[in-house]
Amino acid sequence: MSDNRALIDRLEKEGELSKDELIALISSYSSEDRAYAASRARAVSLRIFGNKIYFRGLIEISNYCKNDCYYCGIRKSNKNAERYRLSPEDILQCCRYGYEAGFRTFVLQGGEDPWWTDERMATLIKKIKAEFSECAVTLSLGERSRESYQILFDAGADRYLLRHETADPCHYKKLHPECQTLENRMRCLKDLIDIGYQTGCGCMVGSPYQTAAQLSEDLICMKKLRPQMIGIGPFIPHKYTPFKDFPAGSVEDTLFLLSLIRLMHPHVLLPATTALGTAMEDGREQGILAGANVVMPNISPYEARKRYMLYDKKVDASSDSLKSRLVLQEKIEAIGYEVVTDRGDYREE
Ligand code: 5AD
Repeated sequence: MSDNRALIDRLEKEGELSKDELIALISSYSSEDRAYAASRARAVSLRIFGNKIYFRGLIEISNYCKNDCYYCGIRKSNKNAERYRLSPEDILQCCRYGYEAGFRTFVLQGGEDPWWTDERMATLIKKIKAEFSECAVTLSLGERSRESYQILFDAGADRYLLRHETADPCHYKKLHPECQTLENRMRCLKDLIDIGYQTGCGCMVGSPYQTAAQLSEDLICMKKLRPQMIGIGPFIPHKYTPFKDFPAGSVEDTLFLLSLIRLMHPHVLLPATTALGTAMEDGREQGILAGANVVMPNISPYEARKRYMLYDKKVDASSDSLKSRLVLQEKIEAIGYEVVTDRGDYREE
């Protein structure tokens, strides 16, 4: 048996490896190793979730952002971005549409847009929960104060997605301006977990300057945080950002890491992300075959989707949302999985 297979087996059995072992695995895996990790990870997903895939309806509520992340297409310095903000009524309309289409989780994602004060957001969350009491509300609104997270939780929000982006403070500095710190990011994640949100962290794979050692740190950081959700996807350059000339992250690395994450966190809710589907035609299906169990189709109105461009050529940005959902569902069924109408909460039993 190859050394890497032995490491993958041990990762499955013990749920962790040392940093040096992770670095060795990430920097030397072969395509056979990747297929092996995927088959082990798939077996774990099947044991825990059966062949069920949870769909989340993603609503991109605003592309205004006060931050200036060097990788992101909606950074404030991108003067070419056409800015938009959905109204609370637009968002409720998306939920109504999404509910009819079988979604039981709504993910409200946006740039860090100061218009969305705690009061406005809390009012919206209460309205959604009043109209769709059996649905979960996930927020993905970036860094806020602990008080703000508490207010939104008390209003009824169930989950919060906030990628840590990179667990290495020096790498974090290369991806963000001085005023954005890993320290505050981690403070946010700890507050979210402490308050009781089902919390998601995650990172990009192949972001500029990233090394195998940093990816290993990301895996170790995830293990320490014990999040309920983990989102990873390949970096994809956006033409109006400082990182426009960097190469995209590798799809193979992303798939391999998805498998490692599944082996380290058997119960975690792990999406096959839009970025993966953008980087490769059947990326989301491959993600499921590598151990993912969640897909987040976009249910934003067409006009919003066109403008919520975090990276170039985003998949689903132009097609009708009901159609793209059905197409995706068929593709998932074709690989032997079933899309369920369920909140799909985190469970450990
Ligand atoms: N490529 C891939 N992912 C990106 N994100 C932002 N910009 C890009 C990009 N150019 C990811 C970040 C963020 C999430 C919402 O989207 O990780 O947390």
